[in-house]
Amino acid sequence: MQRRKLKPAWEESLQLDDGRKLWLRPIQPADAEPLRHGFSLLHPEEIRMRFLHPLKELSAAMAASLCAIDRQRQFALVAAEPLPPGEALIGAVARCAIADDKRAEFAILVARQLAGNGLGRLMMQRLIGWARRKRVDAIYGDVLDENSAMLQLAASLGFRRRRQTDDRGVVRIDLSLTH
Ligand SMILES: CC(C)(COP(=O)(O)OP(=O)(O)OC[C@H]1O[C@@H](n2cnc3c(N)ncnc32)[C@H](O)[C@@H]1OP(=O)(O)O)[C@@H](O)C(=O)NCCC(=O)NCCS
Repeated sequence: MQRRKLKPAWEESLQLDDGRKLWLRPIQPADAEPLRHGFSLLHPEEIRMRFLHPLKELSAAMAASLCAIDRQRQFALVAAEPLPPGEALIGAVARCAIADDKRAEFAILVARQLAGNGLGRLMMQRLIGWARRKRVDAIYGDVLDENSAMLQLAASLGFRRRRQTDDRGVVRIDLSLTH
């Protein structure tokens, strides 16, 4: 993948090895409808891996709230077509939110059409970079223990399992950022 940083913070122009061009940028309110459309194209398993349970539809209200970011405490990046927000199809979303205890929770979804190109790793690295700037103590996420792709990606970034798998099959992983 080729990457070129753009001037506004956190924006990058990407070219995948197969030539597809993408724009990595913070999510915008105008992304709500494209996000709903992208959601409708997801496989139920992708949704279950991301939300830890099945979800049939992304309501307009939920999409709007996922796109309305409190910049002090939240950060969300999309990998989208290089078109203005609102027109661009969205292929991946990674988000992070600071909880009350100085820890930030992440979640990520790279649609299967884009998976395996290094986007998941890059977006996780950006979330970690944001969390470091916010001086949080750790970044954590809840992942199904059958989700070997996410667990391998996280392990390669230094995340560790912090809790036994619960009765929903969910394991918590975290990465300490205190040194
Ligand atoms: C997990 C996920 C984010 C990976 O995204 P991706 O863009 O395909 O990941 P990358 O191409 O950057 O790969 C990074 C690493 O992930 C791991 N990985 C990715 N796909 C994998 C697969 N199918 N099997 C095993 N490991 C895999 C590998 O360790 C890989 O490193 P490598 O390329 O050096 O082997 C993506 O598959 C996804 O969104 N899944 C559905 C939603 C989800 O599971 N979210 C996580 C819970 S919040």
